Amino acid sequence: MHKQILALILIIFTPLVTLWNSLSYSEEYTECTKCHKTDSNLKGKFVHPAVQMGCAVCHSNAHKKDAKDPLGLALDDVPQLCFNCHDSKMFEGKVIHPPAASGTCTFCHNPHSSNTEKLLTSPVPQLCYNCHQKFDRKIVHAPVAAGLCLLCHTPHAGSNESLLLKPLNDICIECHPQVPKMEHVIARGHPLFFKNDPIRKGKEFTCVSCHNPHDSDSMLLFRYKVEGGDKYLLCEHCHKK
Ligand code: HEC
Ligand code: HEC
Ligand code: HEC
Ligand code: HEC
Ligand code: HEC
Ligand code: HEC
Ligand code: HEC
Ligand code: HEC
Ligand code: HEC
Repeated sequence: MHKQILALILIIFTPLVTLWNSLSYSEEYTECTKCHKTDSNLKGKFVHPAVQMGCAVCHSNAHKKDAKDPLGLALDDVPQLCFNCHDSKMFEGKVIHPPAASGTCTFCHNPHSSNTEKLLTSPVPQLCYNCHQKFDRKIVHAPVAAGLCLLCHTPHAGSNESLLLKPLNDICIECHPQVPKMEHVIARGHPLFFKNDPIRKGKEFTCVSCHNPHDSDSMLLFRYKVEGGDKYLLCEHCHKK
């Protein structure tokens, strides 16, 4: 009777123990995708070229009994893992986006594959709106409404304030080349650059001293409230009557 139970136990557990042992030696499992094929994130439209080099470039310890990290990520954890192949200088600069600085690469990128370009976990601007408030006041600047955040910003790091791809006024003038050439605001043209913004202490006076780059409740994306559509009311915020 006891023998029968023992036999039953062996019949049930032997394959499990064998499976466990085999899983414990990753060297024998070069074809990881035999089992991990159902992992939907390995089947996106865009596949990380690193995956094609073999899972082991990142998971060298997968299924090893003594692996400290159950995911078996090689060498170091993210982001050091990524810096084995991607220049870490991309993430250095005067201004660094906090999630890039903290190395939370996988919040924005799937390390395996994705249906969105650049392996993004969701398309821009939704990706950004996970952490930033949506720009949806009465008037939304056309490129912002179109979700083209990356026309003006870098997602990682750079040398310009606010992670801008270029110095502030240059960004605006690229799409609005007429502004510095014509009589903007006043007959001889209002100064468009000045060392100090009279209202926003510590900031330079630029296009965004008068216009919000994203959205606004006032006409012409004005930064300050202008009642009744009289644009000259804007002036009084800086020039006392
Ligand atoms: C015989 C089937 C099989 C093979 C082959 C296999 N795995 Fe696994 N793997 C599993 C199972 C089962 C689990 C545990 C269930 C789970 O967490 O998905 C697992 C877990 C993992 C995990 C941890 C997942 C987590 O969420 O913690 C990683 C990473 C992994 N495998 C990578 C690999 C890599 C890399 C290879 C190739 C070197 C590989 N596996 C080969 C079946 C397999
Ligand atoms: C570029 C490095 C890299 C490569 C190559 C890679 N992985 Fe991963 N993998 C990761 C990282 C990073 C995570 C952790 C993801 C997270 O924390 O969101 C992960 C997580 C996993 C997990 C846990 C479940 C999940 O999706 O989060 C499994 C299973 C897995 N990888 C299997 C594989 C298999 C199989 C291959 C080869 C086909 C592979 N990986 C190739 C970096 C890689
Ligand atoms: C084993 C080398 C290797 C590792 C490790 C690695 N990558 Fe890559 N990755 C590549 C290669 C090769 C390319 C394609 C060439 C390029 O864009 O540099 C690439 C491209 C990319 C791209 C651009 C994809 C595209 O569609 O243009 C992203 C995003 C990326 N990797 C993110 C990561 C992240 C995040 C990590 C860490 C979790 C990582 N990589 C780790 C080799 C690697
Ligand atoms: C806040 C989200 C976010 C974080 C965090 C982030 N990235 Fe990116 N990354 C992006 C976006 C968006 C792009 C696409 C940029 C573009 O198309 O101009 C990108 C592009 C890339 C590329 C492709 C560069 C190219 O020129 O094609 C690589 C490689 C990359 N990221 C790696 C990383 C690594 C490694 C980390 C962590 C240190 C990281 N990213 C953190 C959002 C992020
Ligand atoms: C994981 C969260 C997260 C995601 C996703 C994210 N950000 Fe950020 N971002 C932050 C944090 C935290 C700060 C610093 C606090 C702040 O200014 O709100 C920041 C700051 C910024 C700044 C101001 C930087 C400065 O120095 O003044 C810009 C610009 C920015 N993010 C753009 C983007 C864009 C564009 C995207 C999408 C591609 C994005 N962010 C996605 C977390 C995130
Ligand atoms: C037309 C260029 C442009 C576009 C497009 C744009 N931004 Fe900006 N963004 C700026 C400028 C310029 C600043 C600096 C504003 C300042 O100094 O007051 C800025 C600042 C920011 C900041 C810092 C906090 C703040 O509100 O000042 C965040 C966060 C930000 N942008 C996120 C985004 C996101 C997310 C998108 C896409 C939905 C986006 N931006 C699209 C030009 C742009
Ligand atoms: C990628 C191109 C692009 C960039 C960069 C850009 N703009 Fe625009 N902007 C547009 C478009 C397109 C419109 C809509 C034009 C129209 O309706 O005739 C617009 C409209 C405007 C308007 C008028 C809004 C209204 O309600 O009529 C202002 C003001 C403005 N932009 C200021 C700026 C400022 C300030 C910057 C720099 C922070 C900037 N723009 C950068 C493309 C851009
Ligand atoms: C002193 C405040 C102020 C500054 C600085 C300023 N603007 Fe304006 N902007 C205005 C006012 C006021 C109007 C409405 C003028 C009018 O209708 O004559 C306007 C109108 C606009 C318009 C819509 C009408 C048109 O001319 O196309 C655009 C676009 C614009 N500005 C872009 C810019 C850009 C780009 C910069 C920086 C190079 C800039 N502005 C700097 C106050 C300012
Ligand atoms: C955000 C603040 C701000 C707003 C709003 C503003 N200005 Fe100015 N204005 C300045 C600064 C800064 C200067 C240059 C420094 C100085 O002369 O004190 C300036 C200079 C001027 C000058 C002298 C120009 C020169 O060539 O010396 C005139 C005239 C002027 N502004 C008219 C206006 C009018 C009209 C409006 C409203 C349509 C207006 N400003 C809105 C900040 C502002």
